[in-house]
Amino acid sequence: MKTMKTISLKKLQTLKTEGKRFATITAYDASFAKLVANAQIECLLVGDSLGNVIQGNGTTVPVSMDDMCYHTACVHEGLKFSEFKPLVIADLPFMSYSSTELALENATALMQSGAQMVKVEGGQWLEETVSVLTERGINVCAHLGLTPQSVDALGGFKVQGRDEAAAAQLIQDARALQSAGAGMLVLECIPTELGKRVSNDLHIPVIGIGAGPYTDSQVLVLYDMLGMNTGHVPRFVKNYMENASDITSALINYREEVINGYFPAPEHCYDN
Ligand code: KIV
Repeated sequence: MKTMKTISLKKLQTLKTEGKRFATITAYDASFAKLVANAQIECLLVGDSLGNVIQGNGTTVPVSMDDMCYHTACVHEGLKFSEFKPLVIADLPFMSYSSTELALENATALMQSGAQMVKVEGGQWLEETVSVLTERGINVCAHLGLTPQSVDALGGFKVQGRDEAAAAQLIQDARALQSAGAGMLVLECIPTELGKRVSNDLHIPVIGIGAGPYTDSQVLVLYDMLGMNTGHVPRFVKNYMENASDITSALINYREEVINGYFPAPEHCYDN
């Protein structure tokens, strides 16, 4: 008899409450989604980073709702017969949540394509959007720190929250989004100390990428951790293919290192 295991947001919340970590990885198609599930990685993000790694763009700005729905549906299809089903989060792309009405319409499309949660980038200005979505039964993951959809406004891919004022603002944003109903938070490219403060402060699970070792989960872009990045490799990336004979072993090693606290190591982290 098959033993099915489906990872829900509630399950990830319980892991946080018990002080246990979980792993997150991006994937954009059925084949990789199956490998992620075989490695029992708890959370799968259909990230708009597909704009970089699949479409070859310099930023995530050109990614459309059609792109996101297509890749979310591919991932959903890949997980259909899987005995282990990670929680699937899909990104709402650039400007697809610039009003609450648009957010509701586009989040609905992602959920109908197979997502169990949608992710939005931004701070307190998203409070109303987060509460409208969550009140209607759509799980929302917030994303703070380096928010790639606003890379031009941020002046480039830079570490965020380095001075006390910026750190205080980020903490305020995180609290506001949690109070509005966000069920998870991604923190990208911030100093380790700030990652620790936010993770300890919030009761919802916090997923870090370049946010130090104290977050409840880590996420990497799949193609980065498989060593497929031929351009600039960010400091927070580790190539798990270096010591693996195949992709499944690389994914299993990644999960093991995340849940046991070996990744990220100090060389993957940022100081103030
Ligand atoms: O789009 C993406 O892959 C992301 C992660 C980098 C967190 O948002």
